[in-house]
Formats: sequence, structure tokens, C-alpha cells
Amino acid sequence: MRVVIAGGHGKIALLLERFLSERGDQAVGLIRNPAHAADVRKAGAEAVLCDLEAAVAGDVAVLLSGADAVVFAAGAGAGSGAPRKDSVDRAAAVLMADAAERAGVRRFVQISSMGAGSPPQPGTGEVWAAYITAKTAAETDLRTRDLDWTILRPGGLTDAPPSGRVRLAAPPLPAGTIPRADVAAVIAALLDEPGTRHQTLELTGGDSPVAAAVHSIS
Ligand SMILES: NC(=O)c1ccc[n+]([C@@H]2O[C@H](COP(=O)([O-])OP(=O)(O)OC[C@H]3O[C@@H](n4cnc5c(N)ncnc54)[C@H](OP(=O)(O)O)[C@@H]3O)[C@@H](O)[C@H]2O)c1
Repeated sequence: MRVVIAGGHGKIALLLERFLSERGDQAVGLIRNPAHAADVRKAGAEAVLCDLEAAVAGDVAVLLSGADAVVFAAGAGAGSGAPRKDSVDRAAAVLMADAAERAGVRRFVQISSMGAGSPPQPGTGEVWAAYITAKTAAETDLRTRDLDWTILRPGGLTDAPPSGRVRLAAPPLPAGTIPRADVAAVIAALLDEPGTRHQTLELTGGDSPVAAAVHSIS
């Protein structure tokens, strides 16, 4: 399977690339900084330059030619302000979905976030509100697409080692955290389970082995 990962130098993306390459899949990481290419290659993936805030859908569609799946793993990141929540967490996700449709790449897994799907709680900060608004808008756009999409909303991400055990279900799940490595393992399993298409799923640490958790909702 050839899987193109938007935000290819992100922490989840690098873990996913290693996971996919070790199991014999072909991973391609879209990056905007040429200095990140070596890390992507070290993870076993091909690095392709593409700034998702500057590209247009037709050009991205060309990069998706021959792919079997797309994973949206980009994000404006913790230090960014409200405008980049919109230009990355919303607009870059919409761009990838548009490009996937144009390229005829049906399988699309979008990393969203727990908290998306509802208006931001009153009193939350401007940047968090912009983030949740952007993630919600990206989800809403994706559901209108003629794609085999799955929306994955992880809880708070940690860099802890993988536990291999998760809780994965339709919303709402109680708030929780999850190691990025477990998120990567869940995404790899979702790519293998087309029965999870057209589902919005929340993800935290839990008791179920990853394969069983994904199998149970497919
Ligand atoms: N933090 C949390 O607790 C949490 C919880 C739930 C969901 N999430 C979501 O989970 C996803 C992945 O998280 P993560 O921690 O793995 O992310 P991350 O390490 O912050 O990686 C995000 C990647 O997106 C890339 N990116 C940003 N703007 C770009 C652009 N214009 N073109 C191409 N790439 C661009 C960044 O590249 P540069 O290095 O070049 O900027 C970076 O490599 C994100 O969507 C995040 O919102 C996070």
C-alpha cells in the first residue's frame, strides 16, 4: 500500500512512517522544510516537498498519483496562533481532501482532535477556540466528500512508549490521553480496515489491543 502522509515530519507521522515501512508498505511524507527530509527517510519513507499553506489542489493531486491512501497528520503546532489553526488545521486538511478526490485516492484518514464537533466551551482561550473551530470545519468538509474517509479524534497526545492498548469508539469518550505511538498504530490498522470508512472515532488509552479495537468497530 502506498500511503501519502501530510505533515510528514510530525511526531505521529514519523512513527507511522516507520510502522508502515517496517510492515512492507510504502510511506511518503509531505514536508515543507527540506532539512526534514533526512528524518523522513530515516523513518523508511520517501520525502516530498510540499508546503500545504502554499500549494493548490491540482498540484497536490499530482503528488497523490498512484497512492492508495492519504493520512492528514499535519497541524499548526502548539506555538502557533489562531490564523495558522485556520490555514493548517482547516485549510490544509481541506486541500488534501480536495486533492485526494481529484486524484481518485479514496481512502483518507484525518487526524482531528477530541473536542472537535462541538462549539468551543465558553471561556476557552482564543487559540484553543480557533483550533477546535478549524478541526470541526475540516471534519465537516471531509464528510461531504466522495471519499472513504475516517476521522480520528485522539485525546491529549503524549510521547510515552506505546502501550498497545487503546479505547476507540464513536464519540463521546471520556477525556484521556494517548501515546502518539499508539495513535500511529491505530492509523495503520484503520488503513487496513475499509469497514471503518464514514466513521468518526475518538481515541484514548484503554484496555483493548489495537487490532481488536479497530476490528470491533469495522
Ligand atoms: N497535541 C495534542 O494533544 C493533540 C491532540 C489531539 C490531536 N492532535 C492533532 O494531531 C495531529 C498530529 O500531531 P503531532 O503532535 O504528530 O503533530 P506535530 O509533531 O506538531 O506535526 C505537525 C506537522 O505538520 C507540519 N506542517 C505544519 N504546517 C505545514 C505546512 N504548511 N505544510 C506542510 N506541513 C506542515 C509541521 O511541519 P513543520 O515542522 O515544517 O512546521 C509538522 O511536521 C495534529 O493535527 C494535531 O492537531 C494533537
